[in-house]
Amino acid sequence: MRDVDSGRRGFLKNGITAVLGAAAVPLSPPSLRWIENTIQESAAAGSASAARIKIDFDRRIGTIDRKIYGNFIEHLGRCIYDGIYDEKSSLSDSDGFRKDVLEAARGIHVPLLRWPGGNFSSGYNWKDGVGPKDARPRRWDTAWQEEEPNRFGTDEFIQYCRKLGAEPYITVNMGTGTMQDAADWVEYCNATTDTSWANLRKKNGHPEPYNIKHWGLGNEIYGGWQAGHKDAAGYAADALEFAKMMRWVDPSIQLVACGGPGVEWNMTVLERVANIVDYISLHHYGGTLDTAKEFADATAMEKQIGVLDAVITAAMARTQKKERVGIAVDEWNIWFRSWFQRGNNHMLEEVYNLRDALWVATGLNAFHRNCRTVKLADMAQLVNVIAPIMSNSTGVVLQTTYYPLKLYSEHCGNVALDALVRSDTFPDLPETPYLDVSVTTDDANQKLTLAIVNRHPTADISADIAIAGFKPQNSGEIFEINGPSLDATNTFEAPNQVTAKRRTFSGAGPAFRQTFAAHSVTVLKLQA
Ligand code: AHR
Repeated sequence: MRDVDSGRRGFLKNGITAVLGAAAVPLSPPSLRWIENTIQESAAAGSASAARIKIDFDRRIGTIDRKIYGNFIEHLGRCIYDGIYDEKSSLSDSDGFRKDVLEAARGIHVPLLRWPGGNFSSGYNWKDGVGPKDARPRRWDTAWQEEEPNRFGTDEFIQYCRKLGAEPYITVNMGTGTMQDAADWVEYCNATTDTSWANLRKKNGHPEPYNIKHWGLGNEIYGGWQAGHKDAAGYAADALEFAKMMRWVDPSIQLVACGGPGVEWNMTVLERVANIVDYISLHHYGGTLDTAKEFADATAMEKQIGVLDAVITAAMARTQKKERVGIAVDEWNIWFRSWFQRGNNHMLEEVYNLRDALWVATGLNAFHRNCRTVKLADMAQLVNVIAPIMSNSTGVVLQTTYYPLKLYSEHCGNVALDALVRSDTFPDLPETPYLDVSVTTDDANQKLTLAIVNRHPTADISADIAIAGFKPQNSGEIFEINGPSLDATNTFEAPNQVTAKRRTFSGAGPAFRQTFAAHSVTVLKLQA
């Protein structure tokens, strides 16, 4: 659920109509949105003065955990069934996984995959989803108002993670489920004991434990749209008991507490569970047709991270625990065009444009800049549902948002540097500059990667780049994501409007000037 006020109002409006069975209501009439958009675009048009980027290798922020490039699959619309998994398709492998979808997913190097929800997790009985597929019960999924065939369950999830090369991350049911169910799930996955759930896994053909490390303690329990919704104190008390039970089965697991949309929720929860959890979650959904507002929302997400970080600092001061609780941004994306649809086959199938890709790149920059506290993130979601990859019965298309995920996971270093950036800002938004930048290197300080988002709708922006403590070679590589305009999209009819293009460049040095094209993401790589 989006965490800003407008998101909560959006839920109240749309969530209630969804419960009543009506179609989702647009946030504002299309005509009004067009006017807002036009006004904003004209205000932002024109030129921008040269920017400055100062990099100093002594100013190291910290290590970037690769888990920030994680993703998420939920039993929702066509994400799993008819998305990653289609037993009847000729494009699937012998296990029922769509090969073309898998290949596309491999292209964004997903290190961690969250499942089974989302809202779905708060009504999911994992015991329905193991054993012979034809004997598994069909259930009514109350979260998304769909029939759940249970043909994709824990064993299929692990199989998919292995094919993808991702670590699994499971969110347990703290809505309708019990702490015993959660502990049994840990036993099924991780135990080697001669006990019934561990033995069932072995009987199902998996003698070795799965050793699943990351477990989420419920999803968005703070919200009325969630089965088993509770207040912070109620959630915290339950989370402590679930955590204890799960750890008593496997003490090595890492736990993610359910963070909420405000200081009060997060403080109440952390006061109770900071000693036992490793992460607290943060969800953020943004998006609007207005360019400046969309990027101001990315600024808002970074502020949200800062506020949660401050709450963690306060909570940690009250414990003896040495390991700091990290932030798990385990749902984040643009989601507004298909806001809270329920009960049809093509739910939440957002078509992304170049503006949204720039927002995603800005989000990844924010995770780099905040790498001391953001230790894990999962884009919501991987395929078809608010996703970088869309599929139909004949193939896949890579949405605009696919490309920042690909470039950043392939080229950014694992150490973030604190760059000084001076850039003009959007009119009346002093905290939202046109250029958004993150800078990374590797442990050996041998490479330098600048990830630069020029969010200006029409103007190329030149930047004077100064580097201290690193002597770059004269030439390097540039990867640029761009398209004809901020509104450009990739669809089955026109799949390559927005792509990433590679070129080499020369002229780098301790001080050089580089121009970044209007509405682009540039990943610039230099070697020492
Ligand atoms: O990602 C879609 C939904 O957004 C998830 O199910 C829920 O956790 C959030 O509200």
